[in-house]
Amino acid sequence: MEEEIKNIKLSFDKDLKNTKDVESLEGVRIRYLGRKGLVSGLLGRLSSLDEKTRPRIGKELNLLKTYVQNEFQNRKKILSVSEPGRERVDVTMPGILPQLGHLHPITKTLSEINEIFVSLGFTVAEGPEIETEFYNFEALNIPLEHPSRDAFDTFYIKGNVLLRSHTSTVQIRVMEKTQPPIQSIMPGRVYRPDAVDASHSFMFHQVEGLMVDKLIRFSDLKGTLDLFIKRIFGEKTKTRFRPSFFPFTEPSAEVDISCIICQGRGCRVCSHGGWLEILGAGMVNPRVFEAVGYSPGKFTGFAFGMGVERIAMLKYGIDDIRLFFDNDIRFLKQF
Ligand code: PHE
Repeated sequence: MEEEIKNIKLSFDKDLKNTKDVESLEGVRIRYLGRKGLVSGLLGRLSSLDEKTRPRIGKELNLLKTYVQNEFQNRKKILSVSEPGRERVDVTMPGILPQLGHLHPITKTLSEINEIFVSLGFTVAEGPEIETEFYNFEALNIPLEHPSRDAFDTFYIKGNVLLRSHTSTVQIRVMEKTQPPIQSIMPGRVYRPDAVDASHSFMFHQVEGLMVDKLIRFSDLKGTLDLFIKRIFGEKTKTRFRPSFFPFTEPSAEVDISCIICQGRGCRVCSHGGWLEILGAGMVNPRVFEAVGYSPGKFTGFAFGMGVERIAMLKYGIDDIRLFFDNDIRFLKQF
């Protein structure tokens, strides 16, 4: 049996050295120290020895057992320390969701407006944000003495070059290039040097609309805008046209909608009047057709222009225009 003890010790040393991780170490523990392990096997056979050799072998066996236990513990410590280096994957752990972005509320409103008009047969046209006085004023029949031509009301860049103050510039560009029938909307950014407050921004978005053909009437304008307003604000929304003035349309109208907050009963948002001003519109002034070179008397048409921020503010119940441009993620997250 002495020989066996020696051999077990040797093979244990070898096996222990070959362990690479806690799992393989556990295998070695079971092989030597387990209930049916090699050391226990020898201990079990102790009782069959004669009284003379039993104490000596018993002592040696006990020494072997402590040796194996100590060596096992030491090895375990070494292997556990190097454990963090191993890749450990907990497949039950929930994944980390990446932050998903989405469209800005202005972009959303803008595409909603575009979709409604495209479904009515309008095409989408765009033009430059840096313009000349001709496109922003002259061609639109805005005379020199008009207050909007003042430097206080327009960002002049150099000479007669400026940042457009409305998207009506694009109706001129479209008509210069195309003969009627024309049925287009023109979305884009516009600039006015207004002091920034809850309802003013030096940059905002407009959508202009233009329809020109041989027999376009004011009733076409009313029908188109009434349908648009019902689609964007809801079927129950009423439309009201009030006489107004724009140099580029004649007759002109200011268009109101029944207050979508109080359904026209009167509240703080509509200043208790029950109506909200939403856009400007009218029949294209013959002087504008003249400026783009259309034969006099041949065509009629309507035009309208609306502010996208205003529509988004009403739709979503936002009371400060600056929120659109602050880039505060807590605000943007809500849309
Ligand atoms: N251009 C006008 C504005 O910016 C809006 C408008 C467009 C009015 C077309 C009538 C027709 O206020």
